[in-house]
Amino acid sequence: MKQEKILIIGAGGQIGVELALALRKVYGTDNVVASDIKAAHPLLKDSGPYAILNAMDANATLELVKKEGITQIYLLAALLSATGEKDPKKAWEINMQSLLQTLELGVQEKLTKIYWPSSIAVFGRSTPHHNTPQETVIEPQTVYGISKYAGELWCQYYNQRWGLDVRSLRYPGLISWKSEPGGGTTDYAVEIYHEALKNKKYTSFLSEDTYLPMMYMDDAIRGTIELMEAPSEKIKTRMAYNLSAMSFSPKEIAASIQKHIPDFTIDYNPDFRQKIADGWPKSIDDSAAREHWGWKNEFDLDNMTADMLLNLKAKVGH
Ligand code: SER
Repeated sequence: MKQEKILIIGAGGQIGVELALALRKVYGTDNVVASDIKAAHPLLKDSGPYAILNAMDANATLELVKKEGITQIYLLAALLSATGEKDPKKAWEINMQSLLQTLELGVQEKLTKIYWPSSIAVFGRSTPHHNTPQETVIEPQTVYGISKYAGELWCQYYNQRWGLDVRSLRYPGLISWKSEPGGGTTDYAVEIYHEALKNKKYTSFLSEDTYLPMMYMDDAIRGTIELMEAPSEKIKTRMAYNLSAMSFSPKEIAASIQKHIPDFTIDYNPDFRQKIADGWPKSIDDSAAREHWGWKNEFDLDNMTADMLLNLKAKVGH
């Protein structure tokens, strides 16, 4: 079998950093080329092949693919929900153009597999908010959600029309300590841990009872690699799989932190992101992922909190 060689586009983001490190463990350091528009994230610096690449530059991407003999692409570059609402046109351009170029390149260069993440942001107000099914009414309200849903349809189209092996997951909010989130509505669930250690207090930009689906990064990375390694016949949707681990509100994550830091306090000052969160599911039905390719989460709120606090404490030294 031919050795796979992977290109990660947008490797400097919250998912990309950890995915690059994990993929290098599976496929070998030299077989995973990390790239981003910015200089390497500290964790990726000197840890393997790295290229500066603008995800919008189709020619530069093609050149890199040819030069490195790339067989698979993970396209992670995107503007997220909150940033996207500030500049909808730019979010649409970046999110869609990078995907369409990558799908086209996938067909031309006969790539073996492409990974592209979708999100719970595809769902909107008209979707059932509790235990949101895999297939349901999908009417996203943010430009990010619109781009993710349109992107899912394009992935399915390229699979059906050209046989491209493209796979996708609808991630919930992702919580990580190694890499920083950027521009999302679920980012409060990362900030809160930093502030708890630093200042023992946090002001949440979402109201106390705003439930959202969430997941620890360790689970998300393992799930992504499991999806990509599953035999093709097990992948029964070429849109994106619902993926779920836990659901909590700002009040509940604060209570989980108080088990370790009893004098931690939280208050609430909802901003424009509240409206985005109110349109999203409170919990997700991911039984299709569980049945089709064996998805199973390992972390719930309390063991995630323990792990986050332990690792962040060691990292930032509070
Ligand atoms: N975490 C993302 C966001 O908040 C959702 O996919 O935008």
